[in-house]
Amino acid sequence: TIVESVIEKVDCIYERLRDQVIRMGTSTGSESHIFFVFGASGDLAKKKIYPTLWWLYRDGFIPEGTHFIGYARSQITTEKIFENAAKYMKVKDNEHDLYEKFVKLNSYVAGSYDKDEDFKHLTNEANQISNQESAHRLFYLALPPSVYGSVSELISKHCRPKSPGWMRLIVEKPFGKDLESSNKLSEHLNKFYTEEEIYRIDHYLGKEMLLILFFKEDIGTQGRGGYFDEFGIIRDVIQNHLMQILSIVAMEKPRSTKGEDIRDEKVKVLRCIAPIKPEDVVIGQYTGDKNSKDPERQQGYLDDKGVPKDSTTPTFAQVVIFINNERWAGVPFILRAGKALNEKKAEIRIQFRSTPGGMFDDDNHGSDPNGKLARDELVIRVQPNEAIYLKLNTKRPGEMGFSIEETELDLTYGNRYKGVKLPDAYERLILDVFMGSKINFVRSDELEQAWRIVDPILEEIDKKKIPVIPYTFGSNGLNEAFDAARKHGYIFR
Ligand code: NDP
Ligand code: BG6
Repeated sequence: TIVESVIEKVDCIYERLRDQVIRMGTSTGSESHIFFVFGASGDLAKKKIYPTLWWLYRDGFIPEGTHFIGYARSQITTEKIFENAAKYMKVKDNEHDLYEKFVKLNSYVAGSYDKDEDFKHLTNEANQISNQESAHRLFYLALPPSVYGSVSELISKHCRPKSPGWMRLIVEKPFGKDLESSNKLSEHLNKFYTEEEIYRIDHYLGKEMLLILFFKEDIGTQGRGGYFDEFGIIRDVIQNHLMQILSIVAMEKPRSTKGEDIRDEKVKVLRCIAPIKPEDVVIGQYTGDKNSKDPERQQGYLDDKGVPKDSTTPTFAQVVIFINNERWAGVPFILRAGKALNEKKAEIRIQFRSTPGGMFDDDNHGSDPNGKLARDELVIRVQPNEAIYLKLNTKRPGEMGFSIEETELDLTYGNRYKGVKLPDAYERLILDVFMGSKINFVRSDELEQAWRIVDPILEEIDKKKIPVIPYTFGSNGLNEAFDAARKHGYIFR
C-alpha cells in the first residue's frame, strides 16, 4: 500500500542517515565524540536534552564511541540526573538493557562557571573518559544567559579538542534581551569561536511542520516566572520562534537546500520589515480563573512566586508586521502568542483574499463576517496533531440545487502517514549538530534583524507606554487582538 511504501522510504532515509553518522567519526581521523551538557542539573536538561540523547542513541543515530558528560555546580551524581529525567525518557519494556548501556556512557563533573581550574579539570576528566584528546566535542549550553559569557570563554580556552577533533557550541535562546545585548553576546562569541562553530538553537526550526504564526499555550509560567518576567512573551516567543517561521513562510525560493542559501533568503525577508509600531501591538497579562476547579488555572501571572506583584510583563502579545517587498506589499502578517489560554496549539493560517464579483447569492466576498460564504484558508498546524488543510467552499453533495458549504482538503499526518514516527524537534536539531548541518540554526545576521524589528516596541513596553490588558486563564485570547486582526481584513468564522 501507499502507506507501507512511505514507511519503507522513511526507513531507508533513516538507514542512510545512520550510516552517515556512523562513518562520521572515522572519516575525520577522530574516533569518538564527547557531548557535554552544561546545566545538567537544570530543567531543560532534564526535560529535553537527556531524553533526546537517549532517543537518538536508541535509534542508532549517535556515533559509536560517544560519551556524554554533564556539568553544573550542584554536587549531584549521574544517577540523580537520570532519576530526575526518568519520567521524560519514555523507555519501553523491551528497551531496558539498551537504556542501561546508554546510562553507562554518561558521567557528571561538578564545577563553577567562572574558574579556569574547573574547566581544566573538566577537560582532564573528558580526556580520561574518552581516552582520546582529539575526540570531537559538542557543548550544549542549557544555562541561564547570565553565565553564557564566562562559560563560552572558558570552554574555548580550556576544553578544545586536539587536532583533528572539531568543536561545536550549541547556544540556547534568549540570545540577549535586545539588539544591543544580543550584539554584545555575538561579539563575545566571535572572539572565541568561528561562526562555523556556533549553533544558535531555536527549537521551532526543528519541528516537522516548519510553519507557524499563531502560538497558543494552555499553561501559565509554571514556576518559570522569574525568567519570564525579565523577558515577556515578545522576547520569549515572538522575536525568535515566530519571527523565524515568518521568514520561512515569506522567503523566496532559495537557490538550493543548503543552509547558507536558505538563511540568505530568510535574512532578505527580515531586512524588508520595518520596526513594529505601537499602534500595531496588543498586549495582555493573564489573571487567575477563580471559577476553575483546576488549582493551576486559579493562579494568575502575578501569583507566580518569581513574579513581582506589580509586574506589567506581557504574557500575551499580538503584533502586525508588513514586509515591504514586491510580493508581500500590503499583506498584514499577524503574529500572536499567549500563555494560559484555552488550548496548546501552534499554527499558521493563510487567509486568501476574496475575489471581486461573487457569483452566488450568499457570497459576501468575505467582507461581511455574518455572511454565509467563508474565505478560503490554508492552515498548517505545527502542533498538536501535525496537519496541512485547505478550507474551501464546495457545492453541498447530494443536493439537487446549488447550495454551498465549507469543507476541507485534509492532510492530517497521523492519518496519512500511519506508523511514521515524527522526530521531536530536539532530536532533529541535536542530530544536525553531530552532522554539522546549519540549515535549522539561526545565523547572527538573522538574529540581528529580528531584534531590530522588535527593539523599539520592547522599549515602549518596558517604559509602560502600552496598556497591558488583563485576560482570564483559559480564555481564547483578547477581544482587542481579534478586533485589531479584523481591522486588518482578517475574517473570523
Ligand atoms: P535552569 O534555571 O534550570 O538552569 C539550568 C542550570 O543552570 C541549573 O540547574 C543551575 O545549575 C544553573 N543555574 C541556574 N540559575 C543560575 C544562576 N543564576 N547562575 C548560575 N547558574 C545558574 O534553566 P533551564 O534549564 O530552564 O534553561 C536553560 C536554558 O535553556 C535557558 O537559556 C533557557 O532560556 C533555555 N530554554 C529553556 C526551556 C525550558 O523549557 N526549560 C525551553 C527553551 C529554552 P547549578 O546550580 O547546578 O549550577
Ligand atoms: C520556549 C519558551 O522557547 O518555547 C517557552 O521559552 C514555551 O515559554 C516553549 O513554553 C514552547 O515550546 P513547545 O515546543 O512546547 O511548543
